[in-house]
Amino acid sequence: MTSLDVDNNELLAFLYLMPVAVVGIAADGDIKMLTPRAAALITPLSRDGDFSNLFSILDPITPEVRELIHGYEGTCGVICNHLTVPVAANTVGRHTMVFDINIHKIDADNLMVMFTDITNVTHLEEELLHRTAILDSLPESICVINAEGVIVTINRAWKNYTRENNGIESRCGIGANYFSVFQPTENQVEASINDYATSIKAVLRGTLPGFVSEYDCHSPSGDCGWFSCRANPFFIDGESYAVISHENITLRKRAENNLRKMSRAVEQSPVTIMITDTEGTIEFVNPKFTELTGYSVEEVIGQKSSILKSDKTPPETFEKMWATITTGKIWEGEFINKRKDGSIFYEHATISALYDGNGAITQYVAVKEDLTEKKSIMAQLIHSQKMESIGELAGGLAHDLNNILSVVNGYAALARHEIGKDQKAYTYIDEITRASSRAASLTHSLLAYSRKQVMNQRNQNLNLLIKTVSSFIARIIHDNIIFTLSLQDAPLGVNVDTVQIEQVLLNLATNARDAMPNGGAFTIATETGCIDAQFITTHGYGEPGRYAIITATDTGTGIDARTKARVFDPFFTTKEIGKGTGLGLAMVMGIIAQHGGFIDLQSEPGSGSSFRLYLPLVNEVPAAPAAQAEDKIGK
Ligand SMILES: Nc1ncnc2c1ncn2[C@@H]1O[C@H](COP(=O)(O)OP(=O)(O)OP(=O)(O)O)[C@@H](O)[C@H]1O
Ligand SMILES: [Mg+2]
Repeated sequence: MTSLDVDNNELLAFLYLMPVAVVGIAADGDIKMLTPRAAALITPLSRDGDFSNLFSILDPITPEVRELIHGYEGTCGVICNHLTVPVAANTVGRHTMVFDINIHKIDADNLMVMFTDITNVTHLEEELLHRTAILDSLPESICVINAEGVIVTINRAWKNYTRENNGIESRCGIGANYFSVFQPTENQVEASINDYATSIKAVLRGTLPGFVSEYDCHSPSGDCGWFSCRANPFFIDGESYAVISHENITLRKRAENNLRKMSRAVEQSPVTIMITDTEGTIEFVNPKFTELTGYSVEEVIGQKSSILKSDKTPPETFEKMWATITTGKIWEGEFINKRKDGSIFYEHATISALYDGNGAITQYVAVKEDLTEKKSIMAQLIHSQKMESIGELAGGLAHDLNNILSVVNGYAALARHEIGKDQKAYTYIDEITRASSRAASLTHSLLAYSRKQVMNQRNQNLNLLIKTVSSFIARIIHDNIIFTLSLQDAPLGVNVDTVQIEQVLLNLATNARDAMPNGGAFTIATETGCIDAQFITTHGYGEPGRYAIITATDTGTGIDARTKARVFDPFFTTKEIGKGTGLGLAMVMGIIAQHGGFIDLQSEPGSGSSFRLYLPLVNEVPAAPAAQAEDKIGK
């Protein structure tokens, strides 16, 4: 200092003007000189108002400073420069002050200590470090871009992401242009990424306050991913910036996609899916469930699954099911359940448990297949096989019986010839002949049922055939029944055995008569129609093609569902013993089937019956006078 060659006053003036606090001390810390700035700075630090010794004022740092001073071996020079030391604040409420201290040895006895309060600077630095740590701890890749889109700051996640993506770090780091970092994927229309860029530019211009958007894009390494981006503007000295955070939501999007696919599969599933809690309370059902059971979602959620229970499933089935699923095993079996309308349906169910993260059962999921149609097709098949074998048996028997009856009839005729009418045996032989012709008629019916009759088919107009037989029908039915023919105008070409079709019509008429003991109406109508796929699906039988349709309708008692299932069975009759053989409709069915046709019966108790007979149409119809369209033959 002496080498500066200035007098003491000048030096003091200089020291007083310096922006740092200056204290002149002796080696033991006694203060010899104190600039006002220094006084202002250290005054609040004194505990007892004693400012005589710097070391006692700066108590916590004294040992360190003392050590430095004592350790300095030169006579003059810099002992320390920019020593940053925290100082406990004593008289004011501040916790710690931080001083930047410089100590110069002036001569053997004098030292000059210059210090600056850098508490605020240190705080700012600390705050910056904290904020950087926060930024770096975030999983989102964050960058700050300037008005030109140049990346000026990035966080650790951004750095890591670009590093992980095969050395794209340099292309995406500070200095790179943000708008060239991400590229559209194949799925993404370029317009949408342009929209994104436009939005960010608007944020930078201050015309958009900030936005969040989700989009899929390619990272510069070509990886395809989904990001949720949030852009917010900020301004420094009038310059605009945007902070953009990118959350990689690829996994979430994939999970969402999978979930969406799964939920679509469940929604469109052709099988019923039901989820219940461990008590059997319904929590979820899919659309197939509502379609099958007739219950709406609102009606079943919160209800017990037993809402579907009918009394037809054996109780042991449920016992076994609960015993199985409560142990976490899968149960498979069949239920006979009840729809909302009370009708019964069959289900094959597979029930398994759902678990939580701790392995505890939380729910049960039941996947059920409707077996009703399969069951009914199976029942129909078994029934038709049964009828087929009965037919075989009856046909064979009828054939042999017929032969025997011919012999009986023949010998009866011979015997009648041999004896005179006046003899008693003559009446016996008459009885034998009558009985054997009844038996022959039975065997004919059986043969018709078993489709073993010899057919004498020829092309003819069905309308004419019906008109011919209508006079017989009129004779069969009672006076109190109005019999109407409603025949199609155009001839209906069919290839049929006239006698057999007459038998069919007479049987139907007899049944109609019996179903209307108190009178009513009986109509035979004809028309042309088709059997199509829809018909076959609904009825479970049929052959696609064009048909002549005979509809025999009565206004009689009608037939209930149970009876309807059996009316075509041989020997099924509801008539009292001796009144009906139960072979009428069996024969009708046999004859129509032998002609390659089908029968559709519509009937409800109390609403009459309608038998629709489908006979294959043929093109060649022998010329004949046109059939009458409507003909009333009521007696
Ligand atoms: N039009 C009808 N209305 C009501 N029930 C009918 C009708 N046609 C048939 N049925 C019912 O179907 C049963 C079987 O008829 P089917 O013609 O095969 O035998 P049946 O009339 O009882 O005896 P059969 O015809 O041998 O004299 C009848 O007993 C009757 O219960
Ligand atoms: Mg009958």
